[in-house]
Parts: sequence; C-alpha cells; structure tokens
Amino acid sequence: MIKHDVVIVGSGLAGMRAALEVCENLDVAVLSKVYPTRSHSGAAQGGIAASLGNSESDSWEEHLYDTIKGGDFLCDQDAVEEYVKAAPRVIYELEHFGCVFSRTPDGKIAQRSFGGHSKPRACFSADRTGHAILHALHEQLLKRSKSIKIYSEWFMHSLVLDGDSCNGIVVSDIRSGAVEVIQAKAVIFATGGYGRVFNITSNAFASTADGVMAAYNAGLPLEDAEFVQYHPSGLYRQGILFSEAARGEGGYLLNGKGERFMEKYAPSRMELAPRDIVARAEQSEIDAGLGVDGKDIIHLDLRHLGKARIMERLPQIRQLGIDFIGVDCVTDPLPIQPTAHYSMGGIPTDKFGQVIKDAEGTPVKGLFAAGECACVSVHGANRLGTNSLLEAVVFGERAGRSALEYAKNISHASINESHEKTKILELFESIFQQNGDDSYNDIRNEMKKVMTENCGVFRDESRLQICIETIKKLKERYKRGKITDKGKLFNTEIYEVLELGNMLGMAEIIAVGAINRKESRGGHSRTDYPKRDDENFLKHSLIYNTGSGVVVKYKPVIITKHQPAERTY
Ligand code: FUM
Repeated sequence: MIKHDVVIVGSGLAGMRAALEVCENLDVAVLSKVYPTRSHSGAAQGGIAASLGNSESDSWEEHLYDTIKGGDFLCDQDAVEEYVKAAPRVIYELEHFGCVFSRTPDGKIAQRSFGGHSKPRACFSADRTGHAILHALHEQLLKRSKSIKIYSEWFMHSLVLDGDSCNGIVVSDIRSGAVEVIQAKAVIFATGGYGRVFNITSNAFASTADGVMAAYNAGLPLEDAEFVQYHPSGLYRQGILFSEAARGEGGYLLNGKGERFMEKYAPSRMELAPRDIVARAEQSEIDAGLGVDGKDIIHLDLRHLGKARIMERLPQIRQLGIDFIGVDCVTDPLPIQPTAHYSMGGIPTDKFGQVIKDAEGTPVKGLFAAGECACVSVHGANRLGTNSLLEAVVFGERAGRSALEYAKNISHASINESHEKTKILELFESIFQQNGDDSYNDIRNEMKKVMTENCGVFRDESRLQICIETIKKLKERYKRGKITDKGKLFNTEIYEVLELGNMLGMAEIIAVGAINRKESRGGHSRTDYPKRDDENFLKHSLIYNTGSGVVVKYKPVIITKHQPAERTY
C-alpha cells in the first residue's frame, strides 16, 4: 500500500496551491490523470480578480457586492467576504512565485474590465493568465520535489471512507494498469469540473466529473449542481474559449443584422454584463432568427481594436481563430455561441475547505476540497469571470492549511487494502467482460447532445424531463457496451469508459437539480418559471445518492451584508 500524510487529487491551481501549503511540514502527494501543466486551469484566459485598484480606485467591498449580485444572491456571503479580502495578497504572492503579469506603463500589475465587475480588477498575462499561473505554481512544486511526490497520469477511482472519516483513495496507474490504495491522513480533492457532459463546451477532455462522482458515490451530497455556466464566447460548434477579455478590451457582440444587441438586454453594461445575461441575450437573438446567416452564430467583432492591441492583449485568441477556422480577428469577426464553461456547484465545503455532508455542516473528517469541484459557495448561481482562478488559489491555500492542521497530529487509520482494491479490480473486470452490442461513443455523443439541447442556456420542465429519461436509458445502455482494448498497459479506452460512467451520473444530477428548481436564478434559466423566487428558492440544493435514486434536499444561504435585491445592469 502506498502511504502519504496528505494526498491531493488534481494538479490545477487549487491542487498545486494546496500542496505548497502542506509540504513544509508533512509528506504530500499530488495525483493527476494528466501531466500537471496540462490541467484545465491552464485554459483560463482573461484574468484573476483582485481589488488592487491599479487602474481605478477599488475596494474589497465593491468586489464583494459585484460577486454577490453577479451570483444572483445565492452566494454564501461570509465566504465571499474572506475570499475577496484575500485577493490582493494572493496576487502579490503569485507574482513573487514568478507569475508574469502584464503591466501598466508605470510598471504596476495591469487590470482590465470583465463582465459584472464594476471596476477593472482582472489582473492578467495577456490572454494566457491561467497558463502563466499554472506554470509558476508548477515551478514552485518542482523546487520542492523532495517533499512533494507527483503521480502524473494516475486515475482516482474512489474514496476510502470509514463512517465520517476519510482514510485514503483507490487509484490506478494509467501506464501500467496497476490498482493501488493510497493511505493518507487527509485527502484534498481539486479535481475540477464536468463541462464535458455537454456537446458544446470550453472544458478540457479531462473535465469529466471524476472527483465529484467519487464523493457522490461515497454517499456525500453535491451542492447546487443545476447551476452550470454558459460562457458567451465559445467558438461556433467547437466551444473553444475566446476569452471575455476580448470584450473587456472593447470587443463588440453583433447579431446577424450587425446590431450591438446587448443594448436591449443590459444597456448600462452592454457586452460587459455578467455571463448568464450575455449568454441569454445571445441565445434569444439566435432563437428569434437573428443569428448570423440565420444560424446559431453571433459575431465577436474586434476589428476596431487594431492589430497592435490585439497582439499585445489577445494574442492567443487571435491564433486560435486562425488555427481552428482560418479567421483572423484583426480583419474579420469571430463566429461564436454560448459554451458550457463552469460548474458553480460541487462538493459542499465550509469556508476552510472542509468537506461537509449535510445542511447542518457535519464534517467528513480528513476530506477537503477546493476549486471548481467544490462548492463553498462563493459564486452562487452565476460566477463572474476571473473569480474562478482566484477561488482556486484562495481555497487551495485554505484547504491545504486545513488538511495540514488536521493531519499533523494524527496517525494513519487502518485500511482493508484488499477489500478496497478488489472493488476496483472487479469493476475493471466487469468492463473487460462486457460483451454487449452498444457503442460507448454513441452513448457519449447522445448524452452530450441531449444535455446541450435540453439543459442549456434555457430550460423548461418538458425538456428537462427528456434529459432525465434519456440519461436513464443511456445508463442502461452503458451496461451493454463493449471495449476493444482488453490490455492493461496504457489502456486509455477503459479510462474513457470510466469517465463516461461518471459523466452519465453527473448529467442526471444536473438535470434533476434543474427540474426541481422551479425558478430562474443566475445560470439556471427556466422559461416556465422566468422569475427568481426568493420565497421558495433562496436556498442551496443538496443532491444525494440514496442507492435507489437521486434525492434533493436544501440548505439555507448565508446572508450577511447584502439582502437580495433586483438584479439589473
Ligand atoms: O473568458 C475568460 O477569459 C474566462 C475566464 C474565467 O472563466 O474566469
């Protein structure tokens, strides 16, 4: 059995930042199904929020209010307050770690505008901010390679829980196929989101719900899973992100008539309204037949910014346009549409990264979570752009500190290694033995299609019902699939099947959460319940696996300084 004091699953910003917090005092391992610098945090482009006030005066109080209003008043305000207060410190810490931020002419960290933020507070590295931070943190990990062991290309299957305590995880080495148990005093999940459940998504291939489903399968709830963010500027049909920074720098959104349609939907903020509002505006134009060429296309027009500014501030999206569709945004508008981008929900935690298992806040001892897989909840019903990188770093640090405090004075609990291993070996064997006539690729494609078409920007009862019924059928078909590669070594096919199983489970949870929330709030927009309903739904959902089906419970929202108010821009 492999043994570490603390094991972290996921090597994006949250996981790496957590590792740095633990490694001076305890032995820590970071396990990832990809090489760390390929983690999805690297795809975040436009910036990381902090009220530095380098371009205009700013304050944590304004960042707090923007975040709460942006989240349609579903955020837990105590957590948001500590998070926005921490932001300036973590930016300077990242800078000292070696992150290269873009600069103002007088040498300060430059800050740009972003949707829903009333002040320019996005610190950025051109349009490769996540990439720059990811590499800076990775260098810090490498510097501490004596105390941080990295398991690259290992897959995490399940949690080892004993009552309310977490004692380790069951994993396998993708290269050799060997199944192992890692015994740990504390486990931190930083496993990211699940955008790959959808057909049009900005998410990396690795964002397949593995961490959240491991928690759910172990009997823990998932919080606010119905809130999925659709980013307004995904490349048409492919979903690849064209950063909101393009609009932060002054880009326009145009419909098929060449109109800046945001004037109708958010006249005071135009293209820089929060994402849920901009995505709905785009979808409304498309649904009204006002898409470009009558298709589900909106134009992102940057031509007026000029080549020099595009090359300085937005070089990556220019290159993406050229590489993927042969469109140079210096001379032509980019075709875009809303793309599934971010999961506001996840594994419930308190503001210290401690995983909790119910509305009363009962902790799961030894289990912590941070980043997109967690729900603290600082984003409520809709996250503001640039707040996710901040969340990953702030709560990665906090989860690391909490895990350290918990683990430093205890011994490893005993684990029945063969029992834990056998469960996963049997799972592998059952997939190898399956000899059905169904194709996992077909199942995956149908899941993505039904979720994008029926659980997207706009939802209603009948469409959500279609989702739930289709996903249930797909889950049955999943049991009748067949894989072609029966080998152990680097068998990527079997891992894709395991990921598909996780995504089918997650798809059902999203749709069940959505059908039960009979209101519209943030990223969850019901055409049959078009208004926010604070009387009945100012509460977080907690979705449990009872063994015989999905059950939805609720818990209150923590409101401290700002009572819910009408949300107009
Ligand atoms: O558009 C973007 O650059 C995305 C940023 C984010 O999701 O925070």
